[in-house]
Amino acid sequence: MYFVHPQIKLNNLDKAILSLARSPDLEKLIQKLSFYFPRKQFIFTDMGRSAFKIIIEKLNLKNSEVLLPAYICDIFYPIFKRYNIRPVFLDIDLETFNIDTEEIEKKITSKSKAILICHTYGLLSDIQRIKEITNNRLLIIEDCAHSFGLQKNGIFAGNLGEAAFFSLYKFLPTLRGGLLVCPRDWQINLAETFFDFRDCLSFLNCFSIFALLFKIFGNRIAPKIPRKEKREWPSALNRVSLNLFQRFLENFEKSLKKRIELALYFQEELKKLGFQVQESKNNVFCYLSALIPGNLKSKRDCFVKTLRKYKIFCTRIWQTPIILNPRAQREYQINLNEFPNTVEAAKRIINFPLQNYYTEKEIKKMIFSIKKVIANL
Ligand SMILES: Cc1ncc(COP(=O)(O)O)c(C=O)c1O
Repeated sequence: MYFVHPQIKLNNLDKAILSLARSPDLEKLIQKLSFYFPRKQFIFTDMGRSAFKIIIEKLNLKNSEVLLPAYICDIFYPIFKRYNIRPVFLDIDLETFNIDTEEIEKKITSKSKAILICHTYGLLSDIQRIKEITNNRLLIIEDCAHSFGLQKNGIFAGNLGEAAFFSLYKFLPTLRGGLLVCPRDWQINLAETFFDFRDCLSFLNCFSIFALLFKIFGNRIAPKIPRKEKREWPSALNRVSLNLFQRFLENFEKSLKKRIELALYFQEELKKLGFQVQESKNNVFCYLSALIPGNLKSKRDCFVKTLRKYKIFCTRIWQTPIILNPRAQREYQINLNEFPNTVEAAKRIINFPLQNYYTEKEIKKMIFSIKKVIANL
């Protein structure tokens, strides 16, 4: 069974169980994070989006204009509404899925105050170039949801702007969690939270057999589960998720190296089948994402559904980016003709399963099934 979200292998079960019982060693964790982000403060939040809300408040972005990629998830829509932020959307480059930097000059106005830069799927955005284009006039917020461990010349993403936020459960089996990386003089106090029923389900979801059951029955169960991440005010991360983060971070560098090697191999195989893969240089492949061949565009959803018969559960992040959210479209009078690449990516994107513990054998098996499905489309 192949899933996109981080899975816990049975030989790591002890690590996972211990995380339920013990307390994290915060001093050690901060020491470890200081290697990635020297001279920064770290705040653990219940979700990545909470960290973003804190950034908005600390940088005084309420009632202001913020540039951001058009190809990004629509969790930002309610946040912009709440803080009365006017978003200015930028189309992306189809080779990188990151902002097309040429768009900035076209769209920036005298009112623009900040830019949210996402290192999409784990590929570094060219922040240096963006600083040149904007003459350092905009506050830079890094959306590092997909990019822990991403670096160029020894400088890690998260150090390149005023502040950054990460979404922990995208790259490690932490169930939930965000990390705010910000200046040390920001004063932040968050309410405590506790491991709840939703976390319990997320924990089970890290094991293949339960993940399979949730895929089969999830549509019926999910709407009934309270979604605590929608709480209004940012709150702190619960002890269990923090523990899981600390424990699974221990071997992170080693497993990331392996992940990148596997991703490069997977990309080569996908290219042979006509998929258009993301640029690989400076990519940590939080998601192994590719565009389905152009001639199969109308069959993308059928392809993804049929692969499930082979127990390959791909995702389509983002088949509905923020500019395709009907409410956002009405509110911001979005003209989709201005965003041809975002619209194209939304129609063709597929994120393939990639776990750090896979070997080439798993990739070969998946490719074998992918070929079969394509032949019968
Ligand atoms: C690029 C990006 N930014 C921010 C977020 C929000 O992260 P979280 O789900 O941890 O709030 C997500 C995921 O939903 C994301 O994909």
